[in-house]
Amino acid sequence: MLAEAQFSDVQTNLLQGAMNSAATARVYHQSKLFPAESEDSKARPVLKWAGGKARLLPVLRACLARQTFRRYFEPFLGGGALFFDLAPKTAVLNDLNSELIFCYQIVRDHPAKLFAKLKQMQVSESEFYRLRSVIPESLPPMERAARFIYLNKTCYNGLYRVNKKGQFNTPYGRNGKVSLADEDNLRGVSRLLKNARLMSEDYSSAVREAEKGDFVYLDPPYLPVGKYADFKRYTKETFFEDDHRKLADTFRELSDKGCLVLLSNSFHEKIAKLYSGFYQEVVEMPRFISCKGEGRGRVRELLVSNRPLELTQ
Ligand SMILES: C[S@@+](CC[C@H](N)C(=O)[O-])C[C@H]1O[C@@H](n2cnc3c(N)ncnc32)[C@H](O)[C@@H]1O
Repeated sequence: MLAEAQFSDVQTNLLQGAMNSAATARVYHQSKLFPAESEDSKARPVLKWAGGKARLLPVLRACLARQTFRRYFEPFLGGGALFFDLAPKTAVLNDLNSELIFCYQIVRDHPAKLFAKLKQMQVSESEFYRLRSVIPESLPPMERAARFIYLNKTCYNGLYRVNKKGQFNTPYGRNGKVSLADEDNLRGVSRLLKNARLMSEDYSSAVREAEKGDFVYLDPPYLPVGKYADFKRYTKETFFEDDHRKLADTFRELSDKGCLVLLSNSFHEKIAKLYSGFYQEVVEMPRFISCKGEGRGRVRELLVSNRPLELTQ
């Protein structure tokens, strides 16, 4: 049931906005409803991605528990938490970040050579800034992919932030002991990616071929919720409110075609309204990534689907 008493009036009003605009909308506290994720032998994500959905996986699994689908489409791939968790037999994976997709292509095609390269790399602040200043296109393929993994694992919170020229500019993360890669996992990821088509285009191109019976998981960049929480800068292209409106149109088109569609985003009244008429749920969970310490409170994630979302187990 609703946990409105736990929110201020303003927050309650926001939630009310979502409820008015949706078939269903309730607030779930993830930690209370779902047990911690269990470790198993599945291939795990090779990158840690700001905005990644690893902590939302129990909820996403519950949303999909009664669903079946043919092909898996993930047009905002990032670290691909749900893709690795579901390990689908056929997938179309896309991200506008071409360095990211290039890296996945190398993982898929050359896991052993990539591991050998990563094993030689020394983690230090000076090496981080040296590698960060290198233009990736100037490097041989293996070194380019290794650079991407190195910077991702050692930068601040896995945040992929670029300047106006598209150059990576996230600072060093002081992440303690960092393991750049695990050989067995790289091989597992490589096997899994062999079932997938990898693309680096706008999300709209990546879902064009989705048909009835396919599953499309949409996890777009967040609308910023505060002055410093600017998660839009994953690529030099930003994702504005207007992009969210167009995405909602794409959601409707996919739903009309007969695809199963699931979208996750940080809860925001404007976003919830865009999906008026679809099933919505709000899940509250701890936040770990923010540019400022004070932002590390709780966040509310909005889930939208064209099928009923059954979160209680
Ligand atoms: C919230 S992240 C996805 C996180 C992912 N679900 C995970 O678990 O790691 C959003 C991703 O969308 C990508 N992106 C931004 N704009 C895009 C666009 N127009 N088309 C496709 N991908 C885009 C970003 O590069 C980023 O990796």
